[in-house]
Amino acid sequence: MSTPAEWVEVASLRELERRNRKLVTVGAEPIALFLVDGEVYALADTCVHKRRSLSKGTLLHGRVICPGHQWSFDPRTGEADGQDRCQPVHAVRVDDGVVYVDPRPRALTPEESR
Ligand code: FES
Repeated sequence: MSTPAEWVEVASLRELERRNRKLVTVGAEPIALFLVDGEVYALADTCVHKRRSLSKGTLLHGRVICPGHQWSFDPRTGEADGQDRCQPVHAVRVDDGVVYVDPRPRALTPEESR
């Protein structure tokens, strides 16, 4: 059973709206925030493939494209199209224009991990 999230304040929604992305650090971990269709998503910034920085990538049709080798990640689940590795994702809460992240990577639901 999972314990409740311990939310960490990381950014304002307004900051994210400028470039639709922002690199933040929670504890020692760099986390890339992305704003996609009005929703905020948080992924580990260091790519599971060869450790490039996802926050330096691009957003294309709602996917996060890594600048290293153009793996295309679903920001909701961290799954990479056509790859068997998954980028860790973090739960996000937006409250009154403030973005909070759960520092622990989130486990996918059975529906998401299909
Ligand atoms: S480092 Fe991200 S796709 Fe290779």
